[in-house]
Amino acid sequence: MTLTCLGIEGTAHSFGAALVTNDGTVHSNLWDMLQPDSGGIHPREASQHHAQVGPELISNAITQAGISPEDIDLVAFSQGPGLGPCLRTTATIARALALTLSVPLVGVNHCIAHIEIGRMESNFIDPVTVYVSGGNSQIIAYAGKRYRTFGETLDIAIGNMLDTFGRYVGMPFPAGPRIEIEARQGSEYHTLPYSVKGMDFSYSGMLTAAQRLHDEGTPLPDLCYSIQETGFGMIAEVAERAIAHTGKKELLLTGGVARNERLSQMLAGLAKRHSSRYHRVSPSLAGDQGAMIAWTGILQYEHGNQTAIEESVVIPKWRTDEQEINWRT
Ligand code: ATP
Ligand code: FE2
Repeated sequence: MTLTCLGIEGTAHSFGAALVTNDGTVHSNLWDMLQPDSGGIHPREASQHHAQVGPELISNAITQAGISPEDIDLVAFSQGPGLGPCLRTTATIARALALTLSVPLVGVNHCIAHIEIGRMESNFIDPVTVYVSGGNSQIIAYAGKRYRTFGETLDIAIGNMLDTFGRYVGMPFPAGPRIEIEARQGSEYHTLPYSVKGMDFSYSGMLTAAQRLHDEGTPLPDLCYSIQETGFGMIAEVAERAIAHTGKKELLLTGGVARNERLSQMLAGLAKRHSSRYHRVSPSLAGDQGAMIAWTGILQYEHGNQTAIEESVVIPKWRTDEQEINWRT
Protein backbone atom coordinates (compact mmCIF):
# COMPACT_ATOMS: atom_id res chain seq x y z
CA MET A 1 0.00 0.00 0.00
CA THR A 2 1.30 3.44 -0.88
CA LEU A 3 2.05 5.70 2.04
CA THR A 4 2.50 9.41 1.31
CA CYS A 5 4.41 11.48 3.83
CA LEU A 6 4.71 15.24 4.10
CA GLY A 7 8.11 16.05 5.59
CA ILE A 8 8.75 19.42 7.19
CA GLU A 9 12.24 20.62 7.99
CA GLY A 10 13.06 23.76 9.96
CA THR A 11 15.94 23.28 12.38
CA ALA A 12 17.94 26.37 11.44
CA HIS A 13 17.81 29.07 8.75
CA SER A 14 16.12 26.93 6.04
CA PHE A 15 12.50 25.86 5.90
CA GLY A 16 11.67 22.89 3.71
CA ALA A 17 8.65 20.82 2.71
CA ALA A 18 8.58 17.62 0.66
CA LEU A 19 6.30 14.79 -0.36
CA VAL A 20 7.78 11.31 -0.42
CA THR A 21 6.15 7.90 -0.80
CA ASN A 22 7.21 4.68 0.87
CA ASP A 23 8.67 3.31 -2.37
CA GLY A 24 11.34 6.01 -1.98
CA THR A 25 10.04 8.39 -4.63
CA VAL A 26 10.57 12.09 -3.90
CA HIS A 27 7.54 13.80 -5.49
CA SER A 28 8.49 17.33 -4.46
CA ASN A 29 11.21 18.86 -2.32
CA LEU A 30 11.14 22.63 -1.81
CA TRP A 31 13.05 24.86 0.55
CA ASP A 32 13.65 28.51 1.26
CA MET A 33 16.67 29.88 3.11
CA LEU A 34 16.79 33.01 5.20
CA GLN A 35 19.89 34.95 4.24
CA PRO A 36 21.68 35.58 7.57
CA ASP A 37 23.13 39.07 8.03
CA SER A 38 26.78 39.72 8.87
CA GLY A 39 26.28 38.59 12.46
CA GLY A 40 25.11 35.08 11.53
CA ILE A 41 21.75 33.42 12.15
CA HIS A 42 19.32 35.02 14.58
CA PRO A 43 17.09 32.22 15.89
CA ARG A 44 14.04 34.44 16.34
CA GLU A 45 14.30 35.95 12.87
CA ALA A 46 14.76 32.51 11.37
CA SER A 47 11.66 31.24 13.17
CA GLN A 48 9.66 34.23 11.90
CA HIS A 49 10.91 33.42 8.42
CA HIS A 50 9.59 29.85 8.79
CA ALA A 51 6.20 31.11 9.97
CA GLN A 52 6.03 33.49 7.00
CA VAL A 53 7.11 31.19 4.17
CA GLY A 54 6.02 27.83 5.66
CA PRO A 55 2.31 27.64 4.71
CA GLU A 56 2.86 28.65 1.07
CA LEU A 57 5.89 26.42 0.67
CA ILE A 58 3.95 23.43 1.99
CA SER A 59 1.03 24.23 -0.29
CA ASN A 60 3.40 24.49 -3.29
CA ALA A 61 5.04 21.19 -2.39
CA ILE A 62 1.62 19.50 -2.34
CA THR A 63 0.68 21.04 -5.70
CA GLN A 64 4.01 20.13 -7.27
CA ALA A 65 3.61 16.54 -6.11
CA GLY A 66 0.30 16.47 -7.99
CA ILE A 67 -1.73 15.40 -4.98
CA SER A 68 -4.32 16.99 -2.73
CA PRO A 69 -3.98 17.41 1.05
CA GLU A 70 -6.33 14.45 1.67
CA ASP A 71 -3.78 12.15 0.02
CA ILE A 72 -1.28 12.80 2.82
CA ASP A 73 -1.09 9.79 5.16
CA LEU A 74 1.50 11.05 7.56
CA VAL A 75 3.23 14.26 8.68
CA ALA A 76 6.90 14.09 9.70
CA PHE A 77 8.83 17.03 11.16
CA SER A 78 12.33 17.80 12.35
CA GLN A 79 11.99 17.54 16.14
CA GLY A 80 15.66 18.30 16.81
CA PRO A 81 18.52 19.04 17.10
CA GLY A 82 18.49 22.70 16.18
CA LEU A 83 17.64 26.21 17.27
CA GLY A 84 14.77 26.30 19.79
CA PRO A 85 12.61 29.03 18.19
CA CYS A 86 12.96 27.47 14.70
CA LEU A 87 12.13 23.99 15.96
CA ARG A 88 9.07 25.27 17.84
CA THR A 89 7.63 27.08 14.83
CA THR A 90 8.18 24.00 12.64
CA ALA A 91 6.63 21.71 15.25
CA THR A 92 3.61 23.99 15.59
CA ILE A 93 2.98 23.87 11.84
CA ALA A 94 3.40 20.07 11.81
CA ARG A 95 1.03 19.51 14.74
CA ALA A 96 -1.61 21.78 13.21
CA LEU A 97 -1.42 19.92 9.91
CA ALA A 98 -1.52 16.45 11.47
CA LEU A 99 -4.57 17.44 13.54
CA THR A 100 -6.35 19.11 10.63
CA LEU A 101 -5.73 16.19 8.27
CA SER A 102 -6.35 13.60 11.06
CA VAL A 103 -3.13 11.75 10.26
CA PRO A 104 -0.28 10.52 12.49
CA LEU A 105 2.65 12.75 13.39
CA VAL A 106 6.27 11.54 13.48
CA GLY A 107 9.15 13.48 15.06
CA VAL A 108 12.43 12.92 13.26
CA ASN A 109 16.05 13.47 14.30
CA HIS A 110 17.57 15.81 11.70
CA CYS A 111 21.04 14.20 11.79
CA ILE A 112 19.64 10.69 11.41
CA ALA A 113 17.56 11.97 8.49
CA HIS A 114 20.76 13.09 6.71
CA ILE A 115 22.04 9.50 7.07
CA GLU A 116 18.79 7.80 6.06
CA ILE A 117 18.27 9.83 2.87
CA GLY A 118 21.81 8.85 1.87
CA ARG A 119 21.11 5.18 2.57
CA MET A 120 17.92 5.40 0.56
CA GLU A 121 19.60 6.97 -2.45
CA SER A 122 22.64 4.67 -2.39
CA ASN A 123 20.85 1.45 -1.43
CA PHE A 124 23.67 0.95 1.05
CA ILE A 125 22.87 -1.39 3.91
CA ASP A 126 25.43 -0.46 6.52
CA PRO A 127 27.75 2.41 5.60
CA VAL A 128 30.28 4.42 7.53
CA THR A 129 28.73 7.87 7.13
CA VAL A 130 30.55 11.17 6.86
CA TYR A 131 27.97 13.81 7.82
CA VAL A 132 29.30 17.30 7.24
CA SER A 133 27.31 20.54 7.30
CA GLY A 134 27.23 24.03 8.78
CA GLY A 135 26.41 22.77 12.25
CA ASN A 136 27.75 19.22 12.30
CA SER A 137 30.83 17.21 11.37
CA GLN A 138 30.53 13.58 12.40
CA ILE A 139 31.82 10.20 11.29
CA ILE A 140 29.03 7.77 12.11
CA ALA A 141 28.61 4.01 12.06
CA TYR A 142 25.70 1.82 13.12
CA ALA A 143 26.28 -0.53 16.05
CA GLY A 144 23.93 -2.06 18.62
CA LYS A 145 20.72 -0.38 17.43
CA ARG A 146 22.24 3.13 17.41
CA TYR A 147 24.04 5.44 15.05
CA ARG A 148 27.31 5.85 16.96
CA THR A 149 29.49 8.87 16.51
CA PHE A 150 32.97 7.44 15.95
CA GLY A 151 34.56 10.83 15.55
CA GLU A 152 33.46 14.43 15.46
CA THR A 153 34.64 18.00 15.63
CA LEU A 154 35.65 19.15 19.09
CA ASP A 155 34.74 22.74 18.35
CA ILE A 156 33.15 24.20 15.19
CA ALA A 157 31.74 22.26 12.22
CA ILE A 158 33.61 22.28 8.91
CA GLY A 159 30.82 24.23 7.18
CA ASN A 160 30.82 26.81 9.95
CA MET A 161 34.60 27.15 9.58
CA LEU A 162 34.23 27.70 5.82
CA ASP A 163 31.38 30.20 6.26
CA THR A 164 33.20 32.12 9.01
CA PHE A 165 36.38 32.33 6.95
CA GLY A 166 34.34 33.37 3.92
CA ARG A 167 32.60 36.13 5.82
CA TYR A 168 36.01 37.34 7.06
CA VAL A 169 37.26 37.72 3.50
CA GLY A 170 34.02 39.29 2.24
CA MET A 171 32.26 36.35 0.56
CA PRO A 172 28.45 36.09 0.68
CA PHE A 173 26.80 33.35 2.77
CA PRO A 174 27.10 30.42 2.39
CA ALA A 175 30.79 30.62 1.57
CA GLY A 176 31.47 26.91 0.99
CA PRO A 177 30.68 26.98 -2.75
CA ARG A 178 32.75 30.14 -3.26
CA ILE A 179 35.73 28.71 -1.41
CA GLU A 180 35.52 25.63 -3.62
CA ILE A 181 35.66 27.78 -6.77
CA GLU A 182 38.59 29.83 -5.45
CA ALA A 183 40.45 26.69 -4.40
CA ARG A 184 40.42 25.37 -7.97
CA GLN A 185 42.63 28.32 -8.99
CA GLY A 186 45.03 27.77 -6.07
CA SER A 187 48.18 25.66 -6.24
CA GLU A 188 50.60 26.72 -3.54
CA TYR A 189 50.03 25.00 -0.22
CA HIS A 190 50.36 27.13 2.93
CA THR A 191 50.71 25.16 6.14
CA LEU A 192 47.68 25.32 8.45
CA PRO A 193 47.24 23.56 11.82
CA TYR A 194 46.15 19.96 11.14
CA SER A 195 44.34 18.80 14.26
CA VAL A 196 43.23 15.20 14.68
CA LYS A 197 43.08 13.87 18.24
CA GLY A 198 42.22 10.19 18.33
CA MET A 199 39.02 10.00 16.29
CA ASP A 200 38.13 13.65 16.83
CA PHE A 201 39.30 16.75 15.03
CA SER A 202 39.04 20.51 15.40
CA TYR A 203 38.85 23.59 13.20
CA SER A 204 39.07 26.72 15.32
CA GLY A 205 42.89 26.81 15.33
CA MET A 206 42.93 26.35 11.58
CA LEU A 207 40.39 29.15 11.13
CA THR A 208 42.46 31.63 13.16
CA ALA A 209 45.61 30.69 11.26
CA ALA A 210 43.85 31.08 7.89
CA GLN A 211 42.54 34.50 8.89
CA ARG A 212 46.09 35.53 9.87
CA LEU A 213 47.50 34.30 6.55
CA HIS A 214 44.83 36.33 4.77
CA ASP A 215 45.78 39.46 6.74
CA GLU A 216 49.40 38.87 5.72
CA GLY A 217 48.41 38.98 2.05
CA THR A 218 48.39 35.28 1.10
CA PRO A 219 46.58 34.98 -2.26
CA LEU A 220 42.98 33.91 -1.69
CA PRO A 221 42.99 30.98 -4.14
CA ASP A 222 46.06 29.45 -2.46
CA LEU A 223 44.52 29.99 0.94
CA CYS A 224 41.20 28.39 -0.07
CA TYR A 225 43.11 25.49 -1.58
CA SER A 226 45.10 25.05 1.65
CA ILE A 227 41.95 25.25 3.79
CA GLN A 228 40.28 22.51 1.75
CA GLU A 229 43.31 20.22 1.69
CA THR A 230 43.85 20.54 5.44
CA GLY A 231 40.24 20.63 6.58
CA PHE A 232 39.02 17.79 4.37
CA GLY A 233 42.21 15.83 5.02
CA MET A 234 41.28 15.57 8.70
CA ILE A 235 37.84 14.21 7.83
CA ALA A 236 39.32 11.72 5.38
CA GLU A 237 41.83 10.46 7.97
CA VAL A 238 39.13 9.79 10.56
CA ALA A 239 36.80 8.25 7.97
CA GLU A 240 39.58 5.94 6.84
CA ARG A 241 40.21 4.81 10.40
CA ALA A 242 36.48 4.23 10.92
CA ILE A 243 36.42 2.03 7.81
CA ALA A 244 39.49 0.13 9.00
CA HIS A 245 38.14 -0.33 12.56
CA THR A 246 34.61 -1.35 11.67
CA GLY A 247 35.41 -3.36 8.54
CA LYS A 248 32.31 -1.88 6.89
CA LYS A 249 32.40 -1.96 3.11
CA GLU A 250 30.36 1.13 2.28
CA LEU A 251 31.20 4.81 2.67
CA LEU A 252 28.51 7.50 2.47
CA LEU A 253 28.98 11.27 2.24
CA THR A 254 26.00 13.40 3.33
CA GLY A 255 25.14 16.94 4.57
CA GLY A 256 25.53 20.34 2.90
CA VAL A 257 29.32 20.09 2.56
CA ALA A 258 28.83 16.88 0.55
CA ARG A 259 28.34 19.26 -2.38
CA ASN A 260 32.12 19.80 -2.38
CA GLU A 261 33.85 17.99 -5.22
CA ARG A 262 37.31 17.89 -3.60
CA LEU A 263 36.04 16.34 -0.37
CA SER A 264 34.15 13.77 -2.38
CA GLN A 265 37.24 13.00 -4.42
CA MET A 266 39.28 12.33 -1.26
CA LEU A 267 36.63 10.03 0.19
CA ALA A 268 36.15 8.20 -3.11
CA GLY A 269 39.90 7.57 -3.16
CA LEU A 270 40.01 6.11 0.32
CA ALA A 271 36.95 3.95 -0.33
CA LYS A 272 38.77 2.54 -3.35
CA ARG A 273 41.90 1.77 -1.31
CA HIS A 274 39.72 -0.19 1.13
CA SER A 275 37.70 -1.92 -1.59
CA SER A 276 34.58 -0.20 -0.25
CA ARG A 277 31.64 1.13 -2.20
CA TYR A 278 31.24 4.89 -2.16
CA HIS A 279 28.24 7.20 -2.50
CA ARG A 280 27.83 10.94 -2.24
CA VAL A 281 24.26 12.23 -1.87
CA SER A 282 23.04 14.23 -4.84
CA PRO A 283 23.06 18.03 -4.42
CA SER A 284 19.29 18.33 -3.92
CA LEU A 285 19.40 15.88 -1.00
CA ALA A 286 22.69 17.11 0.53
CA GLY A 287 21.60 20.24 2.40
CA ASP A 288 18.67 20.73 4.73
CA GLN A 289 15.40 19.72 3.05
CA GLY A 290 12.11 18.03 3.81
CA ALA A 291 12.63 14.87 1.74
CA MET A 292 15.03 13.41 4.28
CA ILE A 293 12.55 14.15 7.08
CA ALA A 294 9.67 12.58 5.12
CA TRP A 295 11.67 9.45 4.27
CA THR A 296 12.89 8.94 7.85
CA GLY A 297 9.34 9.57 9.05
CA ILE A 298 8.14 6.75 6.80
CA LEU A 299 10.82 4.36 8.13
CA GLN A 300 9.84 5.16 11.71
CA TYR A 301 6.10 4.97 11.10
CA GLU A 302 6.36 1.64 9.29
CA HIS A 303 8.09 0.28 12.37
CA GLY A 304 5.39 1.42 14.76
CA ASN A 305 7.09 4.59 15.85
CA GLN A 306 4.86 7.67 15.85
CA THR A 307 4.81 10.75 18.03
CA ALA A 308 1.77 11.66 20.12
CA ILE A 309 1.01 15.38 20.19
CA GLU A 310 1.89 15.46 23.93
CA GLU A 311 5.29 13.96 23.13
CA SER A 312 6.04 16.22 20.22
CA VAL A 313 7.93 18.81 22.26
CA VAL A 314 11.11 19.82 20.45
CA ILE A 315 14.56 18.49 21.42
CA PRO A 316 17.18 21.21 20.63
CA LYS A 317 20.13 19.09 21.79
CA TRP A 318 19.09 15.66 20.48
CA ARG A 319 22.24 13.61 19.94
CA THR A 320 22.56 11.24 16.97
CA ASP A 321 23.19 8.23 19.24
CA GLU A 322 20.29 8.95 21.62
CA GLN A 323 17.58 7.40 19.46
CA GLU A 324 17.12 3.65 19.29
CA ILE A 325 16.97 2.67 15.63
CA ASN A 326 14.23 0.03 15.39
CA TRP A 327 13.90 0.05 11.59
CA ARG A 328 17.24 -1.65 10.96
CA THR A 329 18.08 -5.26 11.63
P1 ATP B 1 22.95 21.06 9.87
O1 ATP B 1 21.75 21.55 10.60
O2 ATP B 1 22.81 19.64 9.45
O3 ATP B 1 24.23 21.35 10.51
P2 ATP B 1 23.08 23.26 7.97
O4 ATP B 1 22.04 24.11 8.60
O5 ATP B 1 24.45 23.68 8.07
O6 ATP B 1 22.88 21.77 8.42
P3 ATP B 1 23.29 22.32 5.22
O7 ATP B 1 22.51 22.79 4.04
O8 ATP B 1 23.27 20.87 5.52
O9 ATP B 1 22.72 23.19 6.40
O10 ATP B 1 24.81 22.76 5.04
C1 ATP B 1 25.18 24.06 4.73
C2 ATP B 1 26.69 24.15 4.72
O11 ATP B 1 27.21 23.50 3.54
C3 ATP B 1 27.22 25.57 4.71
O12 ATP B 1 28.21 25.69 5.71
C4 ATP B 1 27.82 25.72 3.31
O13 ATP B 1 28.92 26.61 3.25
C5 ATP B 1 28.25 24.30 3.02
N1 ATP B 1 28.44 24.04 1.59
C6 ATP B 1 27.51 24.09 0.61
N2 ATP B 1 28.07 23.85 -0.59
C7 ATP B 1 29.40 23.63 -0.37
C8 ATP B 1 30.52 23.34 -1.20
N3 ATP B 1 30.40 23.24 -2.51
N4 ATP B 1 31.72 23.20 -0.60
C9 ATP B 1 31.86 23.31 0.73
N5 ATP B 1 30.84 23.59 1.55
C10 ATP B 1 29.63 23.75 1.03
FE1 FE2 C 1 21.35 19.60 8.15
